Order: sequence, then C-alpha cells, then structure tokens
Amino acid sequence: MESKTESKSSGEPIDTVCMACNDSKCDFTAQKFQRRPVGDYDVQIKMKYSGICHSDIHKAAGHLDKLGKPLYPCVPGHELAGVCVAVGSKVTKIKEGMHIGVGCMVDSCLSCVQCKAGQEQKCKKTNTATYCGKNKHGRAESYPPGRETIGGYTTMHVVHEHFAIVIPQTYPLEHAGPVMCAGITMYDPLKAHGAAGKRVGIIGLGGLGIMGIKIAQALGCAVTAISRGPTKKDIALKSGATTYIDSKVEDEMKAGAKSLDLILNTIPVKHDYMYYEQLLDTDGKLVLLGLFEGMFAAFLTGGGKRVVASGIGGIPNTQEIIDLCDKHKIYPETKIIPASKINWAYQQLATNISDALRYVIDVENTLKEDVKCDDPAPDLGPPVSISWMKFISESTKFMFGFR
Ligand SMILES: NC(=O)c1ccc[n+]([C@@H]2O[C@H](COP(=O)([O-])OP(=O)(O)OC[C@H]3O[C@@H](n4cnc5c(N)ncnc54)[C@H](OP(=O)(O)O)[C@@H]3O)[C@@H](O)[C@H]2O)c1
Ligand SMILES: [Zn+2]
Ligand SMILES: [Zn+2]
Repeated sequence: MESKTESKSSGEPIDTVCMACNDSKCDFTAQKFQRRPVGDYDVQIKMKYSGICHSDIHKAAGHLDKLGKPLYPCVPGHELAGVCVAVGSKVTKIKEGMHIGVGCMVDSCLSCVQCKAGQEQKCKKTNTATYCGKNKHGRAESYPPGRETIGGYTTMHVVHEHFAIVIPQTYPLEHAGPVMCAGITMYDPLKAHGAAGKRVGIIGLGGLGIMGIKIAQALGCAVTAISRGPTKKDIALKSGATTYIDSKVEDEMKAGAKSLDLILNTIPVKHDYMYYEQLLDTDGKLVLLGLFEGMFAAFLTGGGKRVVASGIGGIPNTQEIIDLCDKHKIYPETKIIPASKINWAYQQLATNISDALRYVIDVENTLKEDVKCDDPAPDLGPPVSISWMKFISESTKFMFGFR
C-alpha cells in the first residue's frame, strides 16, 4: 500500500447538486456545490443511490460533541452507490462503467500500522470522514480547497481509488449503499470477535440491526433478535434470526439468560446497556455500536473487557462484506425515497419509529436543483453533550469494568 498522495489534476471542478442543511434543524434543500477535478488517483462517480444512516442525523444535528460540530451547509451521507464515469491517469483498481460504493471514510494516512493492516478506520493520524471531514492526508480535498468534505446526498462524487469499493455487477445497486456503512459496521465486530458458528444477539432492529441478523446468519451464527416490542418479530425471523426476544417482557429476557456469546447493540440513544448483560454467557461480550452520550468511553478498553465498542471497518473488510453479500444474496431491507422525503426520513429515525428499514435516496431520478422537502424540518430534540469530566468518569468505569 504505497502512499499515493499527489492526486494532481489540471481538469475542471465538477458540478454537483446535493441535499444540504444550513443548520442543526436539518431542513434539507437542494444546493449546488463543486467537487475537485478528478486527480491522478481519483475516481468520479455518478451517483445512483445514497442510504440514510442514523449517524447522519447525530452529525447534521450536532447532537454528539464527540463527533464534532459540522460546518454548515452540511451534506451528510456515507452509504454511496453509483457508477464510475471517469478515472485519473494513474488509477489501476477501477475502470469506467464499474459499480462503485463509498462508505464512511475517504482518506487516511495509509502509512501507519493500522492503515497498513487494512484498518484505516483506526488510522493513528485519524481518517477523513466522507462528510464533515478535513483533508488531513492529501487525498480528500474539497472544492474550493479547505472546506469540509461533502457527503453522499449528491449527484456526483470524487474519491481516491483506495477508498472506492467495487460493487459486484450482479449486486443490485439500490441495495449496495447500506452495505457501505450498516453492513461493514456489523460485519467488522462479527469477524473481529470470531462470531462464526457462535450464538449472537442483535439489539435494535433498524438499518444496522437487520443487516446484522442477515450477515450473522450467513456466517453460521445462531441469531437472537432483541427488540423493544413484538412488532418486528416477523421481519427478524424472515431475516435469519432463530430466536426473538421482546426486551420489554421480563419473562422473555429471563428465558434468554446466559444464552449468547456475543451481542451487538445498535441502540442510538443513551440507555442502560447493562440491562442486556444478563443475556451473555460467561466470557461473552457486549459490543456497543449505537452512538450515544457516554459510549465513546468504551473505545478505550480495546477488546479486553466484557463491554467494548466498535466503529465501522477498514477498506479490505468493506470489500469483503459486499462480496459476501453478493455471494449469499444478502440485501438490506430498504425503502427507496425521493430526495424530497429526507426530512420525513430523519423524523422517522429520530422518533425511533424505524420500520426496520434503511431509507435510501433515489439520487439519480429525484435529486434535482429545485428540490425542497415536502415535510417541515424534523423535530430532533435538544442537543446532547457530554463534558470532558463526565467522559473521563465514564472511561474509568469501562477500564475497570464496573458500571
Ligand atoms: N459504531 C459505528 O461505527 C456506527 C456505524 C453506523 C451507525 N452507528 C450508530 O448506530 C446506531 C444505529 O444506527 P441505525 O442507522 O441502525 O439506526 P436506526 O435505523 O434508527 O435503528 C436503531 C434501532 O435502535 C432501536 N432503538 C431506537 N430507539 C431506541 C430506544 N430509545 N431504546 C431502545 N432501542 C431503541 C430501534 O430498534 P427496535 O425498535 O428493534 O428496538 C431502532 O430501530 C446509531 O446511533 C448510529 O449513529 C454506529
Ligand atoms: Zn453510518
Ligand atoms: Zn494511518
């Protein structure tokens, strides 16, 4: 993995229309932007679809201090799927016409131990996020230079080839976006914790959770779906779960006591995650994936404790999971929406009405210059913040394993 940093080009900047919000109210409208000209190692993608991850809401609303506040206008989106329409002169991995995905990162140093091990998400010098990221390593310049990266709710994207994921031609493009975040975020901890063949629980049956069930089942796990009511039972079983626990029913929780080796928790709000610990067998692990005040401290424990955290996954594993999804015909449960429905989708996710679906924007057919949302700005509630003192106190609890 050489450091291909000099992505120089004398070409023209590329016009793109994006769905952007101008402040933390997250009221989306179409706005015009430009992307950098295609550099030597860059790939230009004509966008077809873009998934909406719950993280887009956390970030665009400035809800979590640990994620940093965005500079507005903000264009979220890190579940991109489109077609390559141009490549730079030194690109070797991608050809025009190939289906391309982009996930949560568009750059990292590519020279530290983590990057060399294909763990770019853990880059020692930090990766550059697909949206609201800074061009620290030279491969993720925005246009005009200096502004934060703009994400996937966009008609055109330009990315360094290293961070472009090849979507197999046989994989339906409308399903591919969510694999770039939801898919890899679930696959990475399943792989890291050696879940194949083990008893795995998935908490929270939204975009991540349903993908988690499907991927875990394909890996040969016995999957238990854990949800806050009975309504998602059918979709959970259809997706590959063999056991369903309604976490609000004490008897069901008791019946599942010590039945799991690994639990992936995707709940996106502050909650008592130790409530689910009763489901873990001796030496089992609870992995926090949902972002909420306090969970960031769990990253400090590495893999050694009973409660750990996990964040997205590297480029090789992202390629691996889209290939695996293609091989096993694993498709996320999606609802394709027009760009004018982004406010509506945010409201659905923020009020946790989530229908166990990933909302995916039909970029190609509906993202046009004059689009406004049909619905008012979503009601996202007050910003959540965590002080450094509280962060240190949370971290201490994780380190020493007491809650
Ligand atoms: N760690 C990472 O790298 C990473 C990557 C991507 C996303 N994320 C984070 O993962 C979380 C989930 O993302 P997503 O896109 O899957 O969100 P989502 O589609 O909104 O799904 C979240 C699910 O969590 C459950 N839930 C919601 N509110 C809850 C509450 N108050 N108490 C208990 N359970 C609740 C719901 O499932 P039930 O109805 O079944 O209970 C809901 O469907 C978000 O915080 C997102 O930012 C993290
Ligand atoms: Zn995401
Ligand atoms: Zn690095």
